[in-house]
Amino acid sequence: TILHNIKLYAEPGQKVAFVGSTGAGKTTITNLINRFYDIQDGKIKYDGININKIKKADLRRSLGIVLQDTHLFTGTVADNIRYGNLNATDEEVAKAAKLANADGFIERLPQGYDTVLTGDGSNLSQGQRQLLAIARAAIADPPVLILDEATSSIDTRTEHLVQGGMDSLMYGRTTFVIAHRLSTVRNSDAIMVLEQGRIIERGSHESLIAKAGKYYQLYTGAFELE
Ligand SMILES: Nc1ncnc2c1ncn2[C@@H]1O[C@H](COP(=O)(O)OP(=O)(O)OP(=O)(O)O)[C@@H](O)[C@H]1O
Ligand SMILES: [Mg+2]
Repeated sequence: TILHNIKLYAEPGQKVAFVGSTGAGKTTITNLINRFYDIQDGKIKYDGININKIKKADLRRSLGIVLQDTHLFTGTVADNIRYGNLNATDEEVAKAAKLANADGFIERLPQGYDTVLTGDGSNLSQGQRQLLAIARAAIADPPVLILDEATSSIDTRTEHLVQGGMDSLMYGRTTFVIAHRLSTVRNSDAIMVLEQGRIIERGSHESLIAKAGKYYQLYTGAFELE
């Protein structure tokens, strides 16, 4: 048993952040709420409907998932974005790229949106791959997002673009995010601090700082400071 006594909810449009040390259970929680695994005990509900009563295809359509590693395939930049919604028009691809802050670098590529990516996007930087992942999630336009923020160090300018793209993507959507960026955590409606599979602290950034507990320790130690 990895998780114990986990109880949490999000109102539509709210943002819930998970923080905690390595091995605390953050990825496990997100794997359960997107149903990569089934839970052994307890209940997970979307709009009051038990997750195991929701058709997998419907669940996939409703959840946008952005993980730390973006898998890109051999094909054009546009195809890689359109993977989030195969019926999307070129205009919708461009719109998603713009929302994700990916339009700038794409337009500077030799063939723009028609540039062919090879070998899992090895001809792109880490930050550019993240921007494409955000665009791919944006084009699917899901009501719920599950994000595992990348920890990889990217240059400050790209980091800024990624943060802006993430913020636009999250706007108006119910979001569960494993947060590594202080700005994401700060903007969350609720922060869950996990340790050894338990929620040991919860609340807003301010209330948790005032508490001077584990969150305060993480905040002063591990998060990058703005
Ligand atoms: N597939 C698995 N089978 C068994 N135990 C696992 C599995 N995946 C993770 N665990 C265990 O579950 C616990 C929580 O892991 P989890 O991956 O959720 O941590 P995390 O909070 O995401 O950590 P990190 O910050 O390093 O990503 C760990 O003790 C880990 O050893
Ligand atoms: Mg993890």
